[in-house]
Amino acid sequence: MPKYINNRVKDLETPGIRVFSNRVGQLENGVNLTIGEPDFSTPEAVKNAGIHAIKRDLTSYSHNAGLFELRDTVSKFFRERYGFYYNPESEIVITSGASEGIDAVLRTILNYGDEVILPAPIFSAYESLIHLSGAKVVYLDTTDTGFIPDPARLEALITNRTKAIILNYPSNPTGVTISKGSMDQIVNVIEKNDIYVLSDEIYSENSFDKSHQPFAAYSELRDKLFLLHGLSKSHSMTGWRIGFVLGPEEIMNHVIKVHLYNSICASLPSQYAAIEALTGSQDTPAEMNSAYMKRRDFVYKKLGEMGLDVIQPKGAFYIFPSIKDTGLTSLELATRLLEDKHVAVVPGSGFTSYGEGHIRISYANSMENLEEGMKRMEKFINNL
Ligand SMILES: Cc1ncc(COP(=O)(O)O)c(C=O)c1O
Repeated sequence: MPKYINNRVKDLETPGIRVFSNRVGQLENGVNLTIGEPDFSTPEAVKNAGIHAIKRDLTSYSHNAGLFELRDTVSKFFRERYGFYYNPESEIVITSGASEGIDAVLRTILNYGDEVILPAPIFSAYESLIHLSGAKVVYLDTTDTGFIPDPARLEALITNRTKAIILNYPSNPTGVTISKGSMDQIVNVIEKNDIYVLSDEIYSENSFDKSHQPFAAYSELRDKLFLLHGLSKSHSMTGWRIGFVLGPEEIMNHVIKVHLYNSICASLPSQYAAIEALTGSQDTPAEMNSAYMKRRDFVYKKLGEMGLDVIQPKGAFYIFPSIKDTGLTSLELATRLLEDKHVAVVPGSGFTSYGEGHIRISYANSMENLEEGMKRMEKFINNL
């Protein structure tokens, strides 16, 4: 009886990623290049910390904001690695993945009719969550600026209805990172305006060239910035569901209410595992990155040989070639590639309409799968 469900939910679409990964699973010799999670195991020590917690009966609820020990560990992690400080008593909430943190912050700050600026193409969850909150998305086109927001364009989009901007570097789906110069210019615009910034830096530890620059390091954003983070990508812990929100105390007092009515607290054994990830398994991201870089180089080279225009990713584990010259839409290309060659990629249109004309390939995949996937894709492109 669809007419009885919430209208905003009715409008939501199933993410393109799911559609294609489900279909490739049913095909013989399918190669799935849609995967948005590391293809590594959670580090042994982290697994053991979770197991140990379960064996010690640490399976209850925790403080709503998360175990103090974990919040303190998170605070120290960011201070030691990036030099900024958030108070573990009042400015950090542990969530069920970054996803829940993004939702909690958006629902805390958004009123009906508010506008949120999304540099696009971008991870599709933001668009849906903004829509669910009754707010409106305003897109900032980055397709002709290397997927980095142009500060003048950003400024022109800000109105008195603008509540926030969401930034995501390293980026899903493009894999691009943002230079210090561009960050300075964007921060300058945000600082002058009464808007929040949600910086989703879940891929920060998967930065390849030089170390990541966090927006939270800008003290001028201190009272308007939320840092959204977690361990899904850095420590291959997608199923453990651990995220963190760091933000100014005054608003975090409200974020925690949304979080507690939604999920009470993050899973306690996972919180113990998270402490181990941030203290004893700090080398894990670098180990994964050396594998990602080899795979990135391979896929980047192959896409170039196919004649596709593509920006070399500097982080995360995605690459986002243009398929405009094929004359097909991203959905047509992904569908035909799946049906003819049993290779699944994600149509760029799954990352807002600004992703049209591209496909997203995940190289969080074995070299063997990538080689096979690229071989089949090359044949497909050559036969168009
Ligand atoms: C940009 C971005 N943010 C957040 C998430 C969700 O992360 P989590 O598993 O911590 O909920 C993803 C997952 O793909 C992502 O790509």
